Amino acid sequence: MRMVDVIAKKRNGLKLSETEIKYFVEQYMTGDIPDYQASALMMAIYFQGMDQEETATLTKSMVDSGDTIDLSKINGHKVDKHSTGGVGDKTTFIVGPLVAAAGIPVAKMSGRGLGHTGGTIDKLESIPGFKVELTKEQFIENVNNHKLSVVGQTGNLAPADKKLYALRDVTATVNAIPLIASSIMSKKIASGADSIVLDVKTGSGAFMKTLADSRKLAQEMVTIGNQLDRRTVAVISDMNQPLGYEIGNANEVKEAVRVLQGEPVEDLRELALELAAHMTILAGVYPDYDKAMEQLERLIDEGHALQAFKDFIKAQNGDISVIENLEKLPTSFYHIDVKTTLNGYVHEMNAETIGVAAMHLGAGRATKEDKINHGVGITLHKKIGDMVKENDILATLHADTQNVDNVIELIQQSYQIGEKQVKKNKMIYDVIK
Ligand code: URA
Repeated sequence: MRMVDVIAKKRNGLKLSETEIKYFVEQYMTGDIPDYQASALMMAIYFQGMDQEETATLTKSMVDSGDTIDLSKINGHKVDKHSTGGVGDKTTFIVGPLVAAAGIPVAKMSGRGLGHTGGTIDKLESIPGFKVELTKEQFIENVNNHKLSVVGQTGNLAPADKKLYALRDVTATVNAIPLIASSIMSKKIASGADSIVLDVKTGSGAFMKTLADSRKLAQEMVTIGNQLDRRTVAVISDMNQPLGYEIGNANEVKEAVRVLQGEPVEDLRELALELAAHMTILAGVYPDYDKAMEQLERLIDEGHALQAFKDFIKAQNGDISVIENLEKLPTSFYHIDVKTTLNGYVHEMNAETIGVAAMHLGAGRATKEDKINHGVGITLHKKIGDMVKENDILATLHADTQNVDNVIELIQQSYQIGEKQVKKNKMIYDVIK
């Protein structure tokens, strides 16, 4: 087989066979296929697409390029959750303990953040003492004992995806649905859970800006999961504005804890409950959606989910006194209000710009080498649908410098304020099974 023929076939809009896809992934990993031919194939796929069978084969080949995590020593049906990435997304800290409190094991590997969205692991590291690296044995023991553990990605999971993703990043071929779907699903499948719930974000702060594209991506990932024997459900959720009111690291942990304490941060609680409900149904713990919702609400309201969070933090060496006293979490030196000069209603927010603003404060990384500042971030005071008057505070910046004019400008640009009253945004757009 010659790689040039595989590229030409896809360029001409034809379907690649299993043999051709496997040949490409295997030979790319050994270095026998160079980057320039792999880039040409990525571009051909970008324009011509791949059908579901091709996408599933690509996913499987990327899984087979590395290790898979064996979770068989964990008792029960393991369910994983994955978000396609959004600003202010701290749902793992609510969903994980909530599902654990329902008795379902969650063995989660998470990443660090790059660009405008933060990483779960970075956020957890804002808790003093918290260890994100555990041995495989400790990880499994923690899940068996506490039903929840979250660690940084270890092992050589889907290395073909890692190599291809880096190539796509510099060849303008990231935004192709079959490539995103196979990339995400290869890592999820290699991580070993029995079932997967996907949170596919849609809107200004998401990979997929339109609902139609988000539906396509969700459908593609659900199909791949089911074809590769993982029961998969995708929830399509709003990312036209940040999730909740806090963006950063320590302040996102604080907000999640407040939800676990029963505070009504509406969009965040709604999404967390929705994701947890599908996880518990997939695990067979609750028979249907209504029962799951009723029980999960109870697990929050009676404090069981908060207790599960404390147990999880303690088991990973974190200082749980910060959960009882959130003021002990890292904070910044300055707190600077960003005000509006307008009267009206918030019509739109650009979640991506707000994420970039938080990154400039030091809450995220522009390059892999950047160091995170856990205490900085942004608190939003106004969201879509809220009324604003001249001089109202739109957001507070938590910064370690007063030199933040560029960040203030980004926040002001990200709010679109108009005269007409508008409705609040919907949180859940669709569920794909
Ligand atoms: N996240 C991934 O892991 N892969 C993609 O291709 C896009 C987002």
